[in-house]
Amino acid sequence: PSSSMWGGRFAEATDQFVAQFTASVQFDQRMYRQDIRGSIAHATMLAEVGVLNVADRDLIIDGLNAIEAEIARGEFVWRVELEDVHMNIESRLTDRIGIAGKRLHTGRSRNDQVATDIRLYLRDEIDAIRGELKRLMTGLIDLAEREAETIMPGFTHLQTAQPVTFGHHLLAWFENIKRDDERLVDLRVRVNRMPLGSAALAGTTYPIDRRITAKLLGFDGLCENSLDAVSDRDFAIEFCSASALIMMHLSRFSEELVLWASAQFNFVDLPDRFCTGSSIMPQKKNPDVPELVRGKSGRVFGHLMALLTLMKGQPLAYNKDNQEDKEPLFDAADTVMGSLRAFADMVPALVPRREVMREAARRGFATATDLADYLVKRGLAFRDAHEVVGKAVGYGVSSGKDLAEMSLAELQNFSADIGEDVFDVLTLEGSVNARDHIGGTAPNQVRAAVVRARQRIN
Ligand code: ARG
Repeated sequence: PSSSMWGGRFAEATDQFVAQFTASVQFDQRMYRQDIRGSIAHATMLAEVGVLNVADRDLIIDGLNAIEAEIARGEFVWRVELEDVHMNIESRLTDRIGIAGKRLHTGRSRNDQVATDIRLYLRDEIDAIRGELKRLMTGLIDLAEREAETIMPGFTHLQTAQPVTFGHHLLAWFENIKRDDERLVDLRVRVNRMPLGSAALAGTTYPIDRRITAKLLGFDGLCENSLDAVSDRDFAIEFCSASALIMMHLSRFSEELVLWASAQFNFVDLPDRFCTGSSIMPQKKNPDVPELVRGKSGRVFGHLMALLTLMKGQPLAYNKDNQEDKEPLFDAADTVMGSLRAFADMVPALVPRREVMREAARRGFATATDLADYLVKRGLAFRDAHEVVGKAVGYGVSSGKDLAEMSLAELQNFSADIGEDVFDVLTLEGSVNARDHIGGTAPNQVRAAVVRARQRIN
């Protein structure tokens, strides 16, 4: 009564809507390469251990390669009634090569097959994403090197805090992205384990050799327990978690770029090719790319929640629920990939407005801490120095003068310990140069950090 692959025990055909509703081929067909690669490895192993004869193996391999080419050319007809990528390809194989095609699924289930496909797919995505991360890190390092001496205000509470170098600020972003890359390296180890051989849930009665298949597929090891292998999606959750962190970082970076590109800050110019205009306001140049990346972070956070929730109620082992893992996972990977690509392209093209940054640092009493440190070096306790400088700043606010613009006599009204040499520490260069230790903002520290950063990514 049914033409489906599992129709043997059924008395009526699947309801048409149910067939649609339960199908995944619309979105899992993107794993066709991995599915075919996995099947070729499985057939090769079966022949090696004598479960499949060599003639059938060769028919299967040639057939699968031909199907891969068909799909790549866009000629393959995907059929929803065949449910998923696995059964579409297997069915086509049998159409092409006959009974040998029906032997491919020996000692295998779609449960270990799909888990294997996802891991192979994700492994490739991780490698591609790492490529974009590296491009972005390189862009940040190069720009930091060029801007090692550029002075800008550093902020806390988005209020001017202390002068920093723009290169130092960029290297802060580098550190974020570097940790993101390390997380991918770490989780890839757990992605790259092979479920195949676990069959539906309990393993298989055929004398398979899982190590042969794993070697052919480039897995670093085997999933050790068949029940776990077909039901574990931790690796997908870890990937979404690492992706959520990447997007969170890019979103914060975006927020800064949006602020900096505004007329009010005017710290950087984003090249026109990363911006769009307004249909009504002729003057507008909108920072669409960072805005959109900031917005897209939300969907990746959502995918992480979706996968955690998907798994939390499932008893062992495989449940059809798991079919819902793919769309969040794929969209997370696509979104991270696209966002990183945009950033990797954009960062080297950022044009800093050095004079504007410098002027912003000069205003806002950014060197007040330096004056306090100066007084401490003259013997004041830090808390007393803090008080003295606070009063000087109060005077500056009411008189409209920055600390460096006050005369020595004016400054001495607040402390007799202030001498002529105070002006050395009140300059912006003096301030940043003084923070001269590993992790500090001094230009020569930025240059040293640039050298280390290059080593760390190579
Ligand atoms: N399309 C299914 C999935 O994505 C493949 C595995 C289905 N297995 C099963 N026994 N129904 O999870």
